[in-house]
Amino acid sequence: MSSTLAFKKTYNSMPKVTSFTPGRVNLIGEHIDYNGGIVLPVALEKGIFISLTPRSDNSIRIFSDQFDEVIELSINNIATSKWSDYALGSIVYANKAGFLNGGADIAITSTLPIGAGLSSSSALIVGILKLAASLSKKTVDNISIAILAKRVENEFIGMPCGIMDQMAISCTDPGKAIALDTKNLSFEVISLPKSYHIAIIHSGEYRLNTDGNYKKRKEECDIIKEIIGHNDICNMSDNEFILLKNTSTDLYQRALHCVSEHQRALKAIKAIKDDNIPKLGLLMTESHASMRDDFKMSLTNIDNLVNDAIHLGAVGARLTGGGFGGCIVACVLKKNLKTWRQKLLSLHPKAFSVI
Ligand code: GLA
Repeated sequence: MSSTLAFKKTYNSMPKVTSFTPGRVNLIGEHIDYNGGIVLPVALEKGIFISLTPRSDNSIRIFSDQFDEVIELSINNIATSKWSDYALGSIVYANKAGFLNGGADIAITSTLPIGAGLSSSSALIVGILKLAASLSKKTVDNISIAILAKRVENEFIGMPCGIMDQMAISCTDPGKAIALDTKNLSFEVISLPKSYHIAIIHSGEYRLNTDGNYKKRKEECDIIKEIIGHNDICNMSDNEFILLKNTSTDLYQRALHCVSEHQRALKAIKAIKDDNIPKLGLLMTESHASMRDDFKMSLTNIDNLVNDAIHLGAVGARLTGGGFGGCIVACVLKKNLKTWRQKLLSLHPKAFSVI
């Protein structure tokens, strides 16, 4: 159902504004967007439709087709670990930014699976903030929207994420990748290889970024930053590595992932520009090994899915997103896609194709 129709059915009126906001998949550069790294996310054709009408009082009503309920709140409410927190936080921060002056009626419909690592929550926040900004007479650029959206997640939701998802969603169009320098937010839009498909397969293992695993890795990285005395883990020196190795094997391994993942992301950007997709594939597969062995953010079922994806002909495959569940991303020749997908899914009955 379109969000306009959902809005009409729920509130018995037409919405003032409606938009589509893409989800994102990360090709390479995992868990380094808060450690000084370069990342390569792609905005998706699947995403979130949002219809919204601002209100002059402080009430907020939110309908979502994925939960099939209307939640009634006020802009004075705080997060309560419910699906509606993301929309609530977006309206609260749209007020803080002066885009709105009061609550809103909202209807959300989605083509993105939840808990898949495809950033449905960031898409919702960016989408609402952009709609709210469009209703105000303020000129707001895409990077400022991304920064505000990150604040909603960090401050309102309590999810200590980096800036990758919000930037990918706010700053590029579906089907395009951005090579993003997370230190200064400069980015280059990159076209994807024409003869290959970027396939996304959900493992059937569900996860939430707020379930604590992401936070644990973030906290380990915070300790590394304290030990080395700066925030740029991805570019740490050999001496800093030795210092870490003598302090803790776990922390050393986390840092090893960050440094090597940053280098792989740089090489992957070059490989795409050189149209060397087999090289991109190898880097993706190496990235998975690093996430599995050093950052320790994978699951056995996901490792098996990645291995089978490669054995069945993908040039490369890896877990994508925050980890501990969700989707894999694989690079597959378009002409082999149908058979590849059928064979992979028949080996993994819990898995399903997203794109
Ligand atoms: C989640 C976070 C991002 C990023 C990825 C891992 O999607 O929101 O900021 O850290 O995990 O790369």
